[in-house]
Amino acid sequence: MTLADKVWTSAEALAWTVSRFTGAAIEQPRLDAELLLAEALGCDRVDLYANPDRSLGVEERARYRGLIQRRLDGEPVAYILERKAFRYLTLAVSPAVLIPRPETELLVEAVLAFAAGDRGGLVAADIGTGSGAVAVSVAREIDGARVYATDVSEEALGLASENAKAAGVSDRIDFLQGDLLEPLASGIARVPDIAEAPGIAGTLDVVVSNPPYIPTAEIDALPAEISRYEPRGALDGGADGLSVLRRIIDAAPDFLRPGGLLALEIGEAQADAVSTMMKDRFDQITVLRDLAGLDRVVTGVVARP
Ligand SMILES: C[S@@+](CC[C@H](N)C(=O)[O-])C[C@H]1O[C@@H](n2cnc3c(N)ncnc32)[C@H](O)[C@@H]1O
Repeated sequence: MTLADKVWTSAEALAWTVSRFTGAAIEQPRLDAELLLAEALGCDRVDLYANPDRSLGVEERARYRGLIQRRLDGEPVAYILERKAFRYLTLAVSPAVLIPRPETELLVEAVLAFAAGDRGGLVAADIGTGSGAVAVSVAREIDGARVYATDVSEEALGLASENAKAAGVSDRIDFLQGDLLEPLASGIARVPDIAEAPGIAGTLDVVVSNPPYIPTAEIDALPAEISRYEPRGALDGGADGLSVLRRIIDAAPDFLRPGGLLALEIGEAQADAVSTMMKDRFDQITVLRDLAGLDRVVTGVVARP
């Protein structure tokens, strides 16, 4: 019996898929099966358990088969569903952007902790914004915060801009195309309909970034759903994985006010190297660990003269 020639209830379809995904060594077989079945049926995951005897119609079955096949081929669920949950947001994603990771929420938390003592009007730059996960969260969770979000990828900026609109914060984020902090220096905005960046050198409260930080030679050894599907430009941190981090650390002090925060996501083995790179220009260097206990974020504040 195959999925095609039987009348399936949602409980049966789920059980069959979990077993198939487990056999294919998919990491979260039940969660993925639930998300895809709910998508095919146009319902929420909880409805699958509220109505386990609901039978799948012909079109629903065909839709579900297509989604399962894409997952079995290795495509990440977030690209199949074209969305990913991140903090309070459901972000639109596409293969043009990295799928936002739960550990990146720690980066947002570091900015929130810094802003807690702020009297309002925080100004931040999110470098390599991708889907806008960090920029949109900062704008949404910090009252009145204004964010400049840069990326080299025009497609990523288009998606991030959609995500900002959906979250109701597009009036407080400027999306700028270019290399790292360079669009903030040149004041040139190359994304249509987006405001020009003012001259903001030396005035930012926060520079935050989750840059590409995987050593080039390690990318092909990552799980295929990352190495084959996620954009290389979002992963590749150069020969030692530190080349983009290094350039941000060099440039950020010129854009930050004295006492301003630099918050960087890092690879789990990069905390020492990144702390060392920061020590000449930054004080209060702190390494934060993610829920898995791995070094994930380094922060520091610009030393006062
Ligand atoms: C690891 S992804 C992070 C995306 C998003 N901030 C997140 O945390 O989910 C890195 C992003 O940096 C962008 N990027 C890579 N090199 C860049 C550069 N030189 N200047 C600006 N953005 C860059 C990539 O296009 C990608 O969107």
